[in-house]
Amino acid sequence: MPLIEAKNISHSFDYPLFNDINLSLDESETMSVTGISGSGKSTLMHICSTMLKPNSGEIRLFGEDIYSLSQKKLIKIRRDMVGIIFQAHYLFRGLSAYENLELSTILTGNKISEELIEKFKIKKTMNQKIGELSGGQQQRVSIARVLTKKPKIIFADEPTGNLDEKTADEVIKILFEYVKEVRGVLFLVTHEKELASRCKYSKDLSIKGLL
Ligand SMILES: Nc1ncnc2c1ncn2[C@@H]1O[C@H](COP(=O)(O)OP(=O)(O)OP(=O)(O)O)[C@@H](O)[C@H]1O
Ligand SMILES: [Mg+2]
Repeated sequence: MPLIEAKNISHSFDYPLFNDINLSLDESETMSVTGISGSGKSTLMHICSTMLKPNSGEIRLFGEDIYSLSQKKLIKIRRDMVGIIFQAHYLFRGLSAYENLELSTILTGNKISEELIEKFKIKKTMNQKIGELSGGQQQRVSIARVLTKKPKIIFADEPTGNLDEKTADEVIKILFEYVKEVRGVLFLVTHEKELASRCKYSKDLSIKGLL
């Protein structure tokens, strides 16, 4: 059974964004979504990640048709199984980096992983308030927070947007390793062709004719 399956997804806001998108990701598979700004990458990610019901089509996560589920069941899947790294990260600014990670553990009952803190090189930031951190540090804390939940499915919207090349590379490596380790899937939105090409599948939303 695929972990993510999208069938005939179409969506429009003021104008049609995409039509008839189909995709299917099994355990340990990765997919990139590319396309020019405004082509609908974030929208497609929100649709696939329980956040936005499409105008038409069906999204199945773990075989469940998510937008036919009760709100309660949908929230449970979102909380326990899905990790979403948003383009604009939503850390709580009044809290410290550590307290932000702690929130994930309260929701899911997992422990904060020292290993993750080491890997993301954010040990120094733990007692600082989010507002005192650099953009890149905030980005790394927000990704660490998502992985702290130990989700099977990772959705990541330009996760390395705020990072220098070397740090970006390290963070991407951690994401790919994580997906392999938990036999999960990675749905990666990026504008970087080289990064996109590291994924097993790629979808380019700019090329309307190929959709
Ligand atoms: N909630 C919304 N209501 C109305 N229009 C929206 C909404 N969300 C997105 N849009 C519009 O849909 C289009 C696609 O937006 P989206 O954020 O998916 O693009 P994107 O490919 O992720 O772009 P970027 O590379 O700049 O992040 C844009 O024109 C945007 O204004
Ligand atoms: Mg976007």
